Amino acid sequence: MTKQRYTVTAALPYANGPLHLGHVAGVYLPADILVRFLRLKGEDVLFVCGSDEHGAAITLRAKKEGISPKEIVDKYNHLIADSFEKFGISFDIFDRTSSPEHHQTAQDFFLELYRKKKFIEKESEQYYDPEFKQFLADRYITGECPKCANPNAYGDQCERCGSDLSPLELKNPLSTLSGKTPELRKTSHWYLPMDQHEAWLKEWIQDGKLDGEQQHDPKEWKNQVIGQCMSWINAGLRPRAMTRDLEWGVPVPLEQADGKVLYVWLDAPIGYISASKKWAEKNGKDWKKYWLKQNDPAETSKLIHFIGKDNIVFHAIIFPILLKDHGDFILPDNVPAYEFLNLEGDKFSTSRNWAVWLNEYLERHPDKIDELKYTLTAIAPETKDSEFTWKEFQARVNNELADILGNFINRVLVLSKKYYQGIVPTPGELSPEDLELQKSLSQFPDRIEKLIRSYKIREAQSEVMNMARLGNKYLADMEPWKLIKTDPERVQTIMYQAIQIAAKLGVSLQVFLPETAKKINAFLLQEDHSWDRLKENDLLKPGHELGQAEILFQKVEDQLVEQERELLEESRKTGQTTREYAAEKNRIQWDDFTKLDMRTGTILSAEKVKGADKLLKLEVDTGLDKRTIVSGIAEHFSPEEIIGKTVAVLLNLEPRKIRGVESQGMILMAENGDGRLSFLSPDSDTETGAEIR
Ligand code: 2FM
Ligand code: ZN
Repeated sequence: MTKQRYTVTAALPYANGPLHLGHVAGVYLPADILVRFLRLKGEDVLFVCGSDEHGAAITLRAKKEGISPKEIVDKYNHLIADSFEKFGISFDIFDRTSSPEHHQTAQDFFLELYRKKKFIEKESEQYYDPEFKQFLADRYITGECPKCANPNAYGDQCERCGSDLSPLELKNPLSTLSGKTPELRKTSHWYLPMDQHEAWLKEWIQDGKLDGEQQHDPKEWKNQVIGQCMSWINAGLRPRAMTRDLEWGVPVPLEQADGKVLYVWLDAPIGYISASKKWAEKNGKDWKKYWLKQNDPAETSKLIHFIGKDNIVFHAIIFPILLKDHGDFILPDNVPAYEFLNLEGDKFSTSRNWAVWLNEYLERHPDKIDELKYTLTAIAPETKDSEFTWKEFQARVNNELADILGNFINRVLVLSKKYYQGIVPTPGELSPEDLELQKSLSQFPDRIEKLIRSYKIREAQSEVMNMARLGNKYLADMEPWKLIKTDPERVQTIMYQAIQIAAKLGVSLQVFLPETAKKINAFLLQEDHSWDRLKENDLLKPGHELGQAEILFQKVEDQLVEQERELLEESRKTGQTTREYAAEKNRIQWDDFTKLDMRTGTILSAEKVKGADKLLKLEVDTGLDKRTIVSGIAEHFSPEEIIGKTVAVLLNLEPRKIRGVESQGMILMAENGDGRLSFLSPDSDTETGAEIR
């Protein structure tokens, strides 16, 4: 049988923060399970991912952390890649979209479409923030949603009602950069006329037909994916700008496009292609086989995009339009989109610090990787949102992994050692119970395969556990520990069968719990078998020598559950565990430092600056003189409470006019993670004008 080729992608995570369990359960783990399964089937699979390093998600984060976008993406690309590696997500490559190779691929792709006249160039009025000298698209602008009145809708989408928006539709728009009302200015962009693609998209999404041919079976697509796409199409697709007026991104490769970059949702999915190219180059393969139509349809790859439900339109509408417009590319065979995972009764939220971060989990529990995989797969948000709780984690590990799976494997090995010194015994004639057992066992491989191929990984994993349950039940019913005294020959057959079940668990768990499978196979001294060998009855032949067993799963104590819950509550309250510290700034020379003239000063008077909520005008005695300093602390301190305070002052800062008042220096403040400010005051009596060094 010839191998089927697969190109499996997992949504590129933004390099603007660590991954949390919601990301893992709803994209990476299901993708990894399918890929491990396909590899075990002997298919030709390419599994790609990387970090998404452009767009407002990155630049706004950089602004918040006070570092450059480059520093942000470097920091989080490494953190994310490291977590994936430790957690054992088996990408063939984890790339990044800020790489020169990706820029080149994305630019070439854009140019090809430009040459084929697939874009429409159009000038229009767009919102502009004069203070930050920037046009405001996507997440740079917020306002009221015209459809559902959500006051915090973004310039591209309302997260409450899911509507696709353009900034001009927002009521009371505000710049997310300055917080001010923007003005309108003219600018021109290249638009993808999505409205012209409605007819073929409808046919392709609803019937699976492309250019009159059956490309995929639409019954295999999730209802919610088809439903969301059709509601977009039925509402009427609108042209969408594929370029932006920004500095950070892939520059538009046209002379007349200075200061413009590609729209992040154009460049990001092309990241799958550039990652594939890089992988192919490194491994002496041909990337085109995984992305372009082949003359022989049997050679053509099946493209599968694993994503979260908020990415459906980009992967099932926009990217397919781009791929089709380009001409030679295959279109996705399926776009399995997952719903969201909640955490202990609430949504995962970075801003509210309500999350279990993967990197932190791996640090706290490096020995509980498969335990987490098992729980997340058991509750995967396949058809509706689901919830992770530490109590459920404990129950899954203790009652299922330890009591069912661990217990069965341990029993088989301990009894084999005791009765046969670890040598697989020769079975005798099979009893009706044995035949019944074999019949049941023989149904698992195809059943599990079907479930995995239809993205029902929860059920698929639970079927594997049913094999272990069946094994436990068989031993409990047969009671070899009693029979060994009266009918040792029969026990040989019983134990032989039980050993085969353990072997089958060692094979099938390679898909779901690879570390556990490795351990089981090491206990059994079993080599890695392919999936189809599960259909055989005898994986370990009489005379095969088994190895040493250890406990597979430690039980999760109540203490762990309590600690984890406390940690969550703590971090919600204080914001400390996930407090983002600004990265260290670039080194300066000693001379740079000595140029700063800092002294203690005493605040003599303070008053509000008219028309500016944040500013106080201070009279400060610096020892040398009395001078005026304007400070942005009015929201934190009243004028009365700070008069007479000794504070740290930077004297030799170039004076500047703030709201018409000349400020002759700066008061140094410490800013806490939650935005609170405090003065840097001497801890003992210090005279005014003391130098700070
Ligand atoms: O939603 C997100 O997190 C995006 N970074 C996903 C991008 S997927 C792909 F298109 F690159
Ligand atoms: Zn809305």
